[in-house]
Amino acid sequence: MQPQVSALELRAKTGGAAIRKIPIARVELDAREFAAVRKVLESGRLRAGRVTQAFENEFARAAGARHAVAVNSGTSALFLAYRALLEPGDEVIVPDFTFAATAAMVVAAGCKPVFADVDPETCTLDPHEVERRLTRRTRAIAPVHLFGGPADVAALAGLAKRHGLRVVWDAAQAHGAEFGGRDVGSFPDAVCYSFYPTKNMTAGEGGMLTTSDAKLARKLRLLSSHGEASRYSHILLGYNFRLTDIAAAIGRVQLRKLPAALRRRRENARILTRGVAGLHGITTPRAGSGANHAYCLYTIVLEPKALGMNRDQFQRALLRHGVETAVHYPLPLHRQPIFRGYGSDRDFPVSTRLAECVVSLPVHPGLTRPDLERIVQAVREIVSTRK
Ligand SMILES: Cc1ncc(COP(=O)(O)O)c(C=O)c1O
Repeated sequence: MQPQVSALELRAKTGGAAIRKIPIARVELDAREFAAVRKVLESGRLRAGRVTQAFENEFARAAGARHAVAVNSGTSALFLAYRALLEPGDEVIVPDFTFAATAAMVVAAGCKPVFADVDPETCTLDPHEVERRLTRRTRAIAPVHLFGGPADVAALAGLAKRHGLRVVWDAAQAHGAEFGGRDVGSFPDAVCYSFYPTKNMTAGEGGMLTTSDAKLARKLRLLSSHGEASRYSHILLGYNFRLTDIAAAIGRVQLRKLPAALRRRRENARILTRGVAGLHGITTPRAGSGANHAYCLYTIVLEPKALGMNRDQFQRALLRHGVETAVHYPLPLHRQPIFRGYGSDRDFPVSTRLAECVVSLPVHPGLTRPDLERIVQAVREIVSTRK
């Protein structure tokens, strides 16, 4: 829920003049996307075809993977990865602090999600907690590069190897994030991306899987399109999760813009951190060792006692300065109605606390220098006047 602030309150801040609201996210489209979509529309070939294939090739190259399979959402990408790699009843260890789809698709694939707590600094899957949740039925782990900050790839990949587990990486928020100098899309077994409009790049809606395993890529491709090996010959029970060439046309342009957009996101994050780090009651985001954060989201952790206000009050105060914020995420997975019975607050102290205290500030590439200064000033003012 977004806190509400009236237009009157907003005007009061500036002595009557309306202040421009700084949005939490903004889709950046220009004539290049419009022209690419127009070309597809004029061609009359709208379904997955040559444009989607070109998008897959370009995405695989950018992510440092041998193969990429385009699908119609990040959720579909996760579902297909689990379907392709696992058998019904298998257990998959998932972080307790993530977007619901990471775990919901485990259930949809007939498997069982097992939640594990996250690291308090990076908010990503804690390898020690994974070790504690292993059972004889554990077959995979699904770490999430949350907010664009890479999980501890070295520790998690090592753990998976030692225990013979598959790894499905959720990189829905992490286009362009790196670990150990490598793009997160290059690690085995499968990496799942989303092109939802608030992500680092968009296609309207859409998703992508990357893998360097040719057999797995073929299976994913089959599953995404009716399991159809040749015309009307269905060799696997499949689905229609295909992307359209219309969406792929947007995606291709966005992929070309990604390096510049990432530079802006990282620079914006640097300015925000320089401006608010060290303020009592606020912890700024941190990439783990060896990780290069992609800042899909700039999520700070509040300490309500030190601040003298709760998260709601903090968000409302920022909105009075015209700064929109959001909460990713207000509930840990074990508290979601769909996951009742999967554990209690006592099992996941870190994710339970994070869900109460995180708040995301705008970091998108559309921010101007004055916008960033306004965000920093607003946070500093709110923190100092409360103490
Ligand atoms: C971490 C995470 N996983 C999965 C998804 C699902 O992606 P989509 O919305 O494209 O289905 C999202 C998107 O919001 C996400 O943030």
